[in-house]
Amino acid sequence: MSDMILIKGGTVVSAEGEAKADVLVLGEQIAEVGEDIEAEGARVIDASGAYVMPGGIDPHTHMELPFMGTVASEDFFTGTSAAAAGGTTSIIDFVIPGPQQDILEAYRQWRGWAEKSATDYGFHVAITWWDDSVKAAMKTLVQEEDVNSFKHFMAYKNAIMCDDETLVNSFSTARDLGALCTVHAENGELVFRLQQEIFEKGITGPEGHPLSRPPQVEGEAANRAIRIAEVLGVPLYLVHTSCRQALEAVTRARLEGQRVFAEVLAQHLVINDSVYRDPDWNVAAHHVMSPPFRGHEHQAALWRGLQAGMLQTTATDHCCFCTDQKAAGKDDFRAIPNGTGGVEDRMSVLWHHGVRTGKLTPSEFVAVTSTNTAKIFNLHPQKGSMQPGADADLVIWDPEASRTISKETHHQNVDYNIYEGMEVTGVAATTLSRGRVVWEDGQLKTERGTGKYLKRAPFAPYWAAQQRKNALAEPTAVDRG
Ligand code: URP
Ligand code: ZN
Ligand code: ZN
Repeated sequence: MSDMILIKGGTVVSAEGEAKADVLVLGEQIAEVGEDIEAEGARVIDASGAYVMPGGIDPHTHMELPFMGTVASEDFFTGTSAAAAGGTTSIIDFVIPGPQQDILEAYRQWRGWAEKSATDYGFHVAITWWDDSVKAAMKTLVQEEDVNSFKHFMAYKNAIMCDDETLVNSFSTARDLGALCTVHAENGELVFRLQQEIFEKGITGPEGHPLSRPPQVEGEAANRAIRIAEVLGVPLYLVHTSCRQALEAVTRARLEGQRVFAEVLAQHLVINDSVYRDPDWNVAAHHVMSPPFRGHEHQAALWRGLQAGMLQTTATDHCCFCTDQKAAGKDDFRAIPNGTGGVEDRMSVLWHHGVRTGKLTPSEFVAVTSTNTAKIFNLHPQKGSMQPGADADLVIWDPEASRTISKETHHQNVDYNIYEGMEVTGVAATTLSRGRVVWEDGQLKTERGTGKYLKRAPFAPYWAAQQRKNALAEPTAVDRG
């Protein structure tokens, strides 16, 4: 079989712009992008009427995560395959050590699980507790394993929550190593207190979940993490920004010149909190995730944040629990495993609701689904780019094809779909992962174990040094009157 593929007649879109061009793939990489390319012996894919774009990168997934007494139903093979069906060709998942678990042991565990991946994957590593061994493990991860981002859960008290002392220790260690800090921003103490109060009032169903996690709880934690990062001079990335209050904290910091990045989930943009009032307990429970779905005011703010560049990336937080797993919280919403899916649907949902409504251009779509993530996490230009030499992770996107999202037809390993019945226009026609066709003609062609671990080198120490200097800067003499 030829290892040459010529994609002819499409419109190539990158974060920089779009142009009619052919794309020649040689082996695992893009060899050439240009007009009227000829390549004898190549397999030719007709892309007329379609866009040819970098495959999506989902910077936030949890395949086969052990969490809240169960294990997420999607594994690294089924999850990366479902992603490929929707045009996403790389994921960044999370190693989440249990309290006191050796960080390197957890890392090796996740690396083992991920070997079955069909497309490429990387890891953020969560810091869930602190001592000198954790500090040493962070250094090993950055310098020997090419991990350049650490995760901090500010919620999930009595489980994986990180207190301020651990945050400060980890943030300053990450800074010195040239790594990025990421946070799940919710005040875990407040959530814990509100959960107790709400449950004691007799609210035991899924409607109690959003009541225990109001936007203020997220806004407070976002602001706290941002200010800690400012003082310590470390770049910060907020995962799943879901409300106006958190977005405002990000916006303030960015306008002050702080290096703060933020992600929004496709589902937070298009699904609102009415789901928790669904009369069917199961449907409401399917939507239990943190932070919860929000009211319209927040959705409108998030769209504006994405358009304005205050939110740079889109993700899914793909963390699937089937209906019988959600039932663990039948009598107590606090025990419903938190998480929803969507790794297969992110690209179509964002194209339909973002590009087709005029909120995003095709180039901006590429930026927020792929390129910005590649740049922030130091994967660019290997990923998220249409340049010769880049990995041939490509999606041939049919902007006019429609599909109705449903659990009956999706490829995700979960027995419901939070977008059930949503009709979307804009569909992945063909997906390539490092030059291999993994999705075409509505058929998955993924193979277990063909995905590779993504090495992400640390950032130039200049970043951290400069941030620290700015944070500690004295007022200038001329200002002293
Ligand atoms: O509810 C969620 N988001 N579950 C997955 C873990 C997390 O908080 O990201
Ligand atoms: Zn989270
Ligand atoms: Zn998550």
